[in-house]
Formats: sequence, structure tokens, C-alpha cells
Amino acid sequence: MADAIGNKAAHDYHLDVPAPEQGFFAKGLGHGDWGAKNRLSRLFNPKSGNTVMLAFDHGYIMGSTAGLERMDVTIAPLCQYADVLMATRGAIRSCIPPTVQNAICLRATHDASVLVDDMSTGNGLGADIEAAIRMNASAIAMQCFIGGAGEAQSLETLCRAVDAGERYGIPVLGVTAVGKEMARTTEYFLLATRMLAELGVSFVKTYYCDHFEKVVAACPVPVVIAGGKKLPEDEALTMAYRAICDGARGVDMGRNIFQSQHPAAMCQAVAKVVHQHFTDKEAYQFYQDITNP
Ligand code: R5P
Repeated sequence: MADAIGNKAAHDYHLDVPAPEQGFFAKGLGHGDWGAKNRLSRLFNPKSGNTVMLAFDHGYIMGSTAGLERMDVTIAPLCQYADVLMATRGAIRSCIPPTVQNAICLRATHDASVLVDDMSTGNGLGADIEAAIRMNASAIAMQCFIGGAGEAQSLETLCRAVDAGERYGIPVLGVTAVGKEMARTTEYFLLATRMLAELGVSFVKTYYCDHFEKVVAACPVPVVIAGGKKLPEDEALTMAYRAICDGARGVDMGRNIFQSQHPAAMCQAVAKVVHQHFTDKEAYQFYQDITNP
């Protein structure tokens, strides 16, 4: 059995060798079913290969966090600027008109609230595959606590969701959740993203880190980054730009958009980086131009 002792340090990520094409634009996903590929083509723009996912699932563990007090007011007007809406069924059903054209990535785990000291102690299924179908989800998002006390439980829940998703052609987004006491190192994200991909998720969400190009290279399916806590707009755009340069296929961004002073402008600026090859500086200039005409 593989163990952690005495292994050669991994060093050759073949950064100059592109992943095989497999006749489909999304990395590592060319051997799936038509339905899954069609859903992936709604999640990721087949032209750029990338996605802007607007994450507003924070309330399921945090309650009415800043910027999400009224999702009907804050989030609904932003939908037009994003490719994907990533949230719980309760948030989407109650606050987002069913006429939106976005792909839906349904948050499908329940996790410990912010009142619990160590949220990495475990989670469970918050919405089953029938709920995902009813919500017309293009993907379901499963949070996993690799290295946390709840690792085994969250991986078991993930694998059963992957099984269910494969039955119906619904891709699973594996979310690498980092517990309070855990370090956000390159080594950690290399391990966590690869584990989730090997357990069958179609794409992985993780945090941006040093040597991110290695994380992307070693993960055989697309990687998107979470935004994380609110940064000044120029810094958030720089993070998105660096991630895209390092091979990320998009962002799943929440607070850096909906907590911005100008959320619509910020969402559009992020999309310029993700889809239109804007540099961070060009995107920030675009943001400034539309906020100070
Ligand atoms: C993580 O899984 C959370 O549920 C959020 O969806 C995620 O952190 C993205 O939001 P933010 O950009 O605010 O970190």
C-alpha cells in the first residue's frame, strides 16, 4: 500500500506538455457522456474554455453575511454578468428568477456552521440528485475536508454523489475546504485537488497558492479558484489574472464581487480576465472606467 514515508519528492510536472485533447475542450473530460458534456459546455464557455461562477452559498454556514442580507437585491442583478450561479437550492429558489440563463451549480453538502469551532469535523448530503435535477443543475458542489477530522465522512459523501451524478450525467464540483487549523500550502492543495479528481469529480475548486501551475498540471480535470476574503478590487483582479495565467479555468468568486462597492462592474471586470485575455491592469482600468465615467 502507498504510504507517506520515503517517497521521492514529486518534481516533474511537465509544465511544457499540454494535456491530451480527447476531442472535447475541457481537460480530462472527453470520455464522458453526451449529457455531462453538454452540461459542462454550459458551465464553461466552450470558446474560452473558462467560467465565471458567482458564489453566493455563504449563508448556508454563515447566515446573512455582509453583502448577502438580501440576495434578491444584491445577487439577482449580477446574474447577467456570470456564467454560473453557485448556491444552495433555498437561495436560488427564493431569490433568483427561474428565467435566468445561467448554468446552476448546486451546493449539495451541508456543513458545520461558523459557530462550530472546527468545521472540518464533517458534513453530509444537503441536496440529493433528484433535488439537483429539479433545480435543473448543471453541476453539484461537494465540500471535502481532506486532512480534517471529517475527512472519511466527507469523502464517502462525495463518492456517493459522484456515483449519483454519473447515473444522470451531472458533473460534480469537488471543493477543497480548509479547516481553521490547516495550512493553505502548495503541498496541501496539490494533495487535495488530486484526491478529489481521482475520486471522480469533473472539476475542482481550490484556493490560489504559490506554484499554482503545478497544482493545475497535476490535477487531471479543470481547476477553478475560490475568491476568498474581500480584497481591494485591483488585488482581486491580480489574483484572478495570475490564476488564469497559471492554467485555472475560471473563478468561483463571491465576496470579492458582491462585497465590492460596485459589484456589477467587478463581475464584468473579472469576466474580462477570465474570458477576454485582459491583464489585471487592463481589467482594473475597465472597472475604474465604468465606475467613474
Ligand atoms: C466555499 O466553498 C464557499 O462556500 C464559497 O462558495 C467560496 O468560498 C467562494 O466564495 P468566496 O469567493 O467568497 O470565497
